[in-house]
Amino acid sequence: MKIHPDIHEVLFTPDKIAKRVKQIGTQISKDYHGDDLFLVVILQGAIIFASDLMRQIDHGVKVVSGSMAASSYHKGTVSTGHVQIYLDLKEDPGGKNILIVEDIFDTGRTLSNLIKQLTARDPKSIKVASLLSKPSRRETEFTIDYCGFEIPNKFVVGYGLDFNQRYRELPYVGILKPELYAGC
Ligand code: IMP
Ligand code: MG
Repeated sequence: MKIHPDIHEVLFTPDKIAKRVKQIGTQISKDYHGDDLFLVVILQGAIIFASDLMRQIDHGVKVVSGSMAASSYHKGTVSTGHVQIYLDLKEDPGGKNILIVEDIFDTGRTLSNLIKQLTARDPKSIKVASLLSKPSRRETEFTIDYCGFEIPNKFVVGYGLDFNQRYRELPYVGILKPELYAGC
């Protein structure tokens, strides 16, 4: 596999990611068997994870999907603490089993804010699937129901995750060379 020159180290190869996504899909298929599931994909970081994950959920679950976009970032690698929803769901999530699909759970500000807003719309249940989690950065209480991998406090890109909208297309998750964002 050719590694992009801006990547310091690959954390998860395409193969390792595919295996983990399959496991999560199998678990979701069991947990929601015979039920409906409303996947709420958080744009843009979760698109690749969500598209792979939904193909690992079997026909025993009636899947419907929608998307939302929120941001707790302005620029660079530091969370601003301000969460802005700039694209909302078209579908009413009321009475549905929501599964929020997110790319990474960092401080937790984005997700806790989204959960608060979605809970106010009276879903039947609400759970979270996140490809990555940085436990050392946590500022909020809740746990992730389906977590791909825990990672150290490093800024990572690839498989949907970006730095200033770049590197989403990389098929692996890797640590970005710190000199590329020094001063951001
Ligand atoms: P939180 O609100 O601090 O949990 O931040 C979550 C959001 O920050 C994610 O949805 C990502 O968009 C972004 N983010 C946090 N850490 C990283 C990272 O290491 N790489 C890329 N984006 C990240
Ligand atoms: Mg994101």
